[in-house]
Amino acid sequence: MNLRRPLTLVLAISMLMPVVPLQAGPHEHTPLEDQMEIIGKAFRSLRREVRDPAKNESAAELVAKMLQAASKSTEYEPKWTADQPADEQAAFVAGYRKEMKKFVAMLEELHAALKAGDNDRANELVADLRSQQRSSHREYKKPDDDD
Ligand code: HEM
Repeated sequence: MNLRRPLTLVLAISMLMPVVPLQAGPHEHTPLEDQMEIIGKAFRSLRREVRDPAKNESAAELVAKMLQAASKSTEYEPKWTADQPADEQAAFVAGYRKEMKKFVAMLEELHAALKAGDNDRANELVADLRSQQRSSHREYKKPDDDD
């Protein structure tokens, strides 16, 4: 092995380095995170489409997708639950479910507004969903999680 050649040197050094994983291990997705990713992707497109009445049909389909993921989300518990004091966990999960049901109700209203061609109301509801996302994440999403 000729260590004067840069490439050989780099290879030699890399062979001596322990394999250090970037994180503690591959990030295992919780079932709730899977649903939230569906919601997140659909919401990103929805925010654009809702401004254009010509796109109401496709926007309503995105809302239907979010609705399905939100209803599934009510079955799960936030992973932050495990870090709450034992005697507060039931209330934490109940609060989360109540908020998720509110989210579902808002999405149902948004779906109806789009079907009715009421884009003013639809835009208001999208803004309301944004602030509900922020407050719910503040309350139920583990703070060191990425968004
Ligand atoms: C438009 C509304 C919302 C959007 C776009 C959204 C999006 C997201 C995204 C992208 C994540 C990260 C997923 C990942 O790490 O892979 C997440 C996580 C999370 N979201 Fe939402 N979210 C919304 C509303 C809500 C609401 C209303 C609640 C509660 C009622 C909520 C509770 C959570 C929780 C608890 C997590 C952490 C996952 C876990 O604990 O397993 N989100 N959300």
